Amino acid sequence: MCGIVGYIGDRNAQEILTGGLRRLEYRGYDSAGIVTTNDAGKATRLRAKGKVAELDEKVLAHKKTDHVGIGHTRWATHGVPSERNAHPHRVGAIYLVHNGIIENYRDIKELLTTKGYAFNSDTDTEVLTALVDLFYKTQSTKNLLAAVSEALQMAVGAYGIAVLAADSPEELVVARKGSPLVIGVSEGEVYVASDPSALVGHTDQVIYLKDGEIATCRREGVELYDIATNVVEKVVEKLELDLQAIQKKGFDHFLLKEIYEQPDTLRSTLSGRVQLEGMYAKLGGLNMSDKELSEVEHVLVVGCGTAYYAGQLASYYIEQCSDKVTVQVAIASELRYRSFNLPKNTVALVVSQSGETADTHACLRELQKRGIRCLGIVNAVGSTIAREVDGGVYVHVGAEISVASTKAFTSQVAAMLLFGLVVAQAKGAGKQEIGAYLQELDALPDEITRIIEEHAEEMKQLAKTYASYEHALFMGRDTMFPVALEGALKLKEISYIQAEGYAAGELKHGPIALVDDRFFEVALVADNLLYEKSMSNLIEINARGGHTIVLTDSDKPIDAEAVVRISTKLKLLSPLLFNVLLQLFAYHMAVERGNDVDQPRNLAKSVTVE
Ligand code: F6R
Repeated sequence: MCGIVGYIGDRNAQEILTGGLRRLEYRGYDSAGIVTTNDAGKATRLRAKGKVAELDEKVLAHKKTDHVGIGHTRWATHGVPSERNAHPHRVGAIYLVHNGIIENYRDIKELLTTKGYAFNSDTDTEVLTALVDLFYKTQSTKNLLAAVSEALQMAVGAYGIAVLAADSPEELVVARKGSPLVIGVSEGEVYVASDPSALVGHTDQVIYLKDGEIATCRREGVELYDIATNVVEKVVEKLELDLQAIQKKGFDHFLLKEIYEQPDTLRSTLSGRVQLEGMYAKLGGLNMSDKELSEVEHVLVVGCGTAYYAGQLASYYIEQCSDKVTVQVAIASELRYRSFNLPKNTVALVVSQSGETADTHACLRELQKRGIRCLGIVNAVGSTIAREVDGGVYVHVGAEISVASTKAFTSQVAAMLLFGLVVAQAKGAGKQEIGAYLQELDALPDEITRIIEEHAEEMKQLAKTYASYEHALFMGRDTMFPVALEGALKLKEISYIQAEGYAAGELKHGPIALVDDRFFEVALVADNLLYEKSMSNLIEINARGGHTIVLTDSDKPIDAEAVVRISTKLKLLSPLLFNVLLQLFAYHMAVERGNDVDQPRNLAKSVTVE
């Protein structure tokens, strides 16, 4: 989603800001802009529709030596992508960039119109800018902090903002409510970003702004306040992210790099948590005693998109681990608005790669209001969800730059399975029951490496054959069903092929009507008790002239247009291997179709608005 950067110091602000915006490109955006000011208060605002490269051209034509400024990549919510709607917005001396949505902007706009303000864009952000200007220019002292504070006390909605007053170029004011902001501090300079990856290489000393906080950033340092400008204590933390983690390392795309990274990232997830000697699972950050774990009766998993599908797959495993636990998986954007009841002794797993997804975060707040213990299954260290949960498991997969989530999925499933094992252990499960999962988890990274080595070329060739289709059906039974859902999501978001995931048993209840020459079908067929059932689904499709691709770990004869056979010793966790192959398939389909693989159209990495 939208990205914010800011800088004040002695270096060239235009260079720092455009560099920062390039780091945030992966989040998805449709326009970009920066404003810098010189010591005399002369501002240079440059904005462009499209990529940061378009903005770079404008910067080249208007080079400045200014040392302070703010910048933004915009993902359109109010108003079409255009230069006019791009941030920074300006009203009077005030320049402002904003992530989020000001819900009552119409009321504020009406009020401002009566005071003589006219608006040049269709955005809620320009309205907020004007409101800050109103308070700023009516003060005798021109106090930017006070003006921002007054404006935000009127604003309803979510925001991360950075504000600059051209006639007061010695400071930036930033604030957050529901949309992340991090401040990087270094000797004589301060950096601002909505995502820590923009700070990497500049400083590793950071302050994460909390909801409701405002900060003034000056060369001499940062001061934190609450919304009413009472001083708040600041905590400077070390940023655990390095340049290596945000580079492509020789791969053509971040997506491919992240698919290939999975054996290593999974090892990081499992490290210290799978104890084969003694056969137990260990999770350090749950903040739950063995007694509390033993009392868990119901697990609610909440997430969006890929995180939700990871929850679906994990739900099978958690219930397999213990027959004394029930599991329910909910789409965060649905759960937050429905009435729902939870049995006693429920624990919620709040799953999010970014830790910033607005709907997931809203569920967390709602669940906590109801007194439900919430554990985070989060990747981004220091993110909002990670900070607000009662405990949790970091999946430790490093920066996931590609918009489409891959390595996070694998590790989210593993982390939730570990949670299931820890609960089962506390309830008295034997080493043998736990052991089977632990051994498979331990073997999984090497199995992923081998499967990729053996099948990467095959998936590439398969993509060449099927890249011209416009419709696809993915199907699987049992643990292969969530993989079918995730495989379809991956394909649709990066190849733009319409893809549906189905429980194979549902085929006859509707989707089989779709089977014709424009479709291909991907059947995930596990060599287990349901093998024959899956085969009969295949026969039904073949009988109607379907174009079937089968992925299977069986060596029995299969009649299909294409068959990808994997051999693996894994029985329980083989769906994760199938999923890696589907990730590769989606990747090559997108490449074949000439798409922007890492930044698919209309998508954003971290969905901080609902
Ligand atoms: C799909 C994808 C999205 C995210 C979803 C949740 O490839 O990336 O569906 O999984 O937006 O994001 P997080 O996990 O950051 O909450």
